[in-house]
Amino acid sequence: MFKDGLLADEVIFVTGGGSGLGKSMSLRFAELGARLVICGRREGILESAAQEIEEATGSEVLALPCDVRDLGQVEAVVQAGIDRFGHISGLVNNAAGNFLAQTETLSSNAFRTVVDIVLTGSFHATLACGRHMIEKGRGTVLSITTTYAWTGSAFVVPSACAKAGVLAMTRSLAVEWARYGIRLNAIAPGPFPTEGAFSRLMPPGIEEAAIRKIPLRRFGEHQELANLATYLMSPQSAYVNGEVVTIDGGEWLNGGEFNHFTSLPDEQIDGMFEQLRAATRKPSK
Ligand code: COA
Repeated sequence: MFKDGLLADEVIFVTGGGSGLGKSMSLRFAELGARLVICGRREGILESAAQEIEEATGSEVLALPCDVRDLGQVEAVVQAGIDRFGHISGLVNNAAGNFLAQTETLSSNAFRTVVDIVLTGSFHATLACGRHMIEKGRGTVLSITTTYAWTGSAFVVPSACAKAGVLAMTRSLAVEWARYGIRLNAIAPGPFPTEGAFSRLMPPGIEEAAIRKIPLRRFGEHQELANLATYLMSPQSAYVNGEVVTIDGGEWLNGGEFNHFTSLPDEQIDGMFEQLRAATRKPSK
């Protein structure tokens, strides 16, 4: 899909790059020649991901533990990346925190924790990288948001608020920082199986119903999201700025008024529609 060495001039910082979709994107970037800085809270997982990616691709990976809620820690990682590779040209705001809960049971700290990781964390990384990118006169920032940043969603209010904020930041800075040669875009993924997300967001026994909600009737594959991220991080998308690309098999559109009929058997749909047609047919003259 992409030519070899597409990202050879890039140094990309992926927050939460040691596991899940962050790791899949990191691997794809490295396969295409990018050097990487990855961070996460769990040092062991981070180090083994870095080793795996280096062995598989031959690209260099700097892995450093960091909690994105702390600006000082994020700045230290960005500086270490610049010291090692000379510059950082790309950032992927991927680190996230989320859980399902009835909103009336949440503590203030529960709300703050998710907003701090998702929104403040994305701001911290964007700020630390952005200051450096402004000096260099080029940069690409990609944030992982979600389709419910627009629609909202029951049971994930802190995440919905935070992701809507990330979307607003993306579109605001796409205008403000374009004059420095910096582009900002976002991806809104539907369900992609990862241990982190599915263990928190996919209660046992609900998978089949979740798949039925998706018009393409399957979850996403990591490679599909990694390829989209690659396009948006590469010079091939040089004129795409302030955009959010949804990759969800059509899931979010399926909330429409009559879309749930598609999960019924064809005969039942035909029967229902015929009944209505018969009831409303004009009497023949
Ligand atoms: N329901 C309600 N409240 C919850 C909760 C849940 N499932 N999980 C955590 N909380 C509350 C805690 O009770 C605590 O509030 P309190 O101090 O008032 O009791 C607050 O949230 C912080 O929890 P804590 O476990 O101390 O935070 P943490 O920083 O260790 O973990 C989380 C952050 C909760 C987001 C954790 O799920 C996490 O680390 N997630 C990272 C990975 C992830 O979520 N991936 C999915 C991305 S889609």
